[in-house]
Amino acid sequence: MPEYIAILDFGSQYTKLIARRIRELGVKSLILPFDTPAKRIKTAKGLILSGGPFSVYDPKAPLPDKEIFDLGLPILGICYGLQAIGHLLGGKVVQSQKREYGMAYFVKKKDEIFYGIPRHSSVWMSHGDRLEVLPQGFTPIGFTENSPYAAIKRENIYGLQFHPEVVHTTFGTQILKNFLYRVCKARGEWGIEGILMGAEKELKKAKDGRAILALSGGVDSTVCAVLSKKILGERVFPVLVDTGLLRHREAEFVEKSLDKIGVEIKVVDASQIFIDALKGVKDPEKKRKIIGHKFIEVFEREAKKVGAKYLIQGTLYPDRIESAGVPGPSKTIKSHHNVGGLPKLMNLQIVEPLKELFKDEVRMIAKALKLPKSLYMRHPFPGPGLAIRIIGNVTQRKLKILKMVDEIYINELKRHKLYDKIWQAFAVLLPTKTVGVMGDYRTYEYVVALRAVCSSDGMTADFYPFKPGFLTLVSNKILNRVKGVNRVVFDISSKPPATIEWE
Ligand code: XMP
Repeated sequence: MPEYIAILDFGSQYTKLIARRIRELGVKSLILPFDTPAKRIKTAKGLILSGGPFSVYDPKAPLPDKEIFDLGLPILGICYGLQAIGHLLGGKVVQSQKREYGMAYFVKKKDEIFYGIPRHSSVWMSHGDRLEVLPQGFTPIGFTENSPYAAIKRENIYGLQFHPEVVHTTFGTQILKNFLYRVCKARGEWGIEGILMGAEKELKKAKDGRAILALSGGVDSTVCAVLSKKILGERVFPVLVDTGLLRHREAEFVEKSLDKIGVEIKVVDASQIFIDALKGVKDPEKKRKIIGHKFIEVFEREAKKVGAKYLIQGTLYPDRIESAGVPGPSKTIKSHHNVGGLPKLMNLQIVEPLKELFKDEVRMIAKALKLPKSLYMRHPFPGPGLAIRIIGNVTQRKLKILKMVDEIYINELKRHKLYDKIWQAFAVLLPTKTVGVMGDYRTYEYVVALRAVCSSDGMTADFYPFKPGFLTLVSNKILNRVKGVNRVVFDISSKPPATIEWE
């Protein structure tokens, strides 16, 4: 079994961040439900108990299998994770009078886990309850003004009341590194070679038949296509469905770009099918479902044509993490009916070479495969495409308007070297018309909203603070060039409480 760290998920918004940090430090991490039986994780190199939104006294408080403490594995409890350790091993957790949120001044004691960090440093706290009585055998190894037990340990079991995974904890990464390499004695095998080997091994499952590959033109499916060609050669048939809901000349761009790197694809023009099916549909969830079903129909037809037994798709690790019903930010808000939703309904065996990876790891592969930056640094684009960026019903005219607006906006981002600084940017066409004036005439036309966000995984996002000059320029270009729009607005909402897409 390759070396890995198991992260038990207690519903923290930071669980995926912990997983990524561990991987960035060279060790594979797997997020598992909080109640995973101890015997299933005994092969791990170490265990991390995530934070979570609970109090250990909540009637439904998630608690781990107590036998994890008998495995002899190094354990690190973070925030709620520390409280769960304290509670289960006989300490006492109490509701604090003062919720501790934000930066705190941390004073460490000498310990392996704090190797290389100064005695005083800043840490990020976000907790209500706190540990008041230490469980038997534990000693405090660090404190803050409000938390005398901000860091505790017993042999190789550690608890931190603060969050080492967030950037605000100045030496957080060093603490995690010490946990991995000094406490768990990890070897650090998670690098590009290991990542590639895993992806290729998955692809070899499809060696005995033909496979179609669901291509979107994004980094994930492009990497899938390149790897599949390498491993399966002529037996893989990449298919790009032109739903008519793609960006201006997107299908053409993807076809040409992939051709340049030696991957021939088939573009299936299904635009009429999608647009007909969406006629008069306003509800976002209905639109998503219709699009999902149409994708299935098209792929089934294409699979039959070539006699495919397998479907290869670029599903990523964050899409597959089980959460064991812990309420947290990973609850379904929108049904993502993109190609990732195809398998259950199709009579094909699924191959997912990227299913163990985060997006930044896929970008690492793309770099290692020497793919052009224009392919692997593309902004994510949702499966339902422009249909969820046209609020309300979708028509050919609205699609035409939105494609033009989007093209102007994205080109300006590229021209001003802003595109790579932004995680995702796009325009949204509102169902609202407003009054304007052009020359001496009254106009009554649509409003478009521009969105640009910074994010690391799409789970949370902040809007990008453009300089006013840039927005003015884009707005002028849109209003001068796109017939049918007389007003441009900029979306200044973060996620949460908004989502990135509007529908
Ligand atoms: P939200 O709007 O949920 O979006 O904040 C988070 C990220 O997911 C993308 N997204 C989708 N991607 N199929 C996809 O492939 C979908 O149905 C879908 N809906 C949203 C969105 O563009 C953003 O990057």
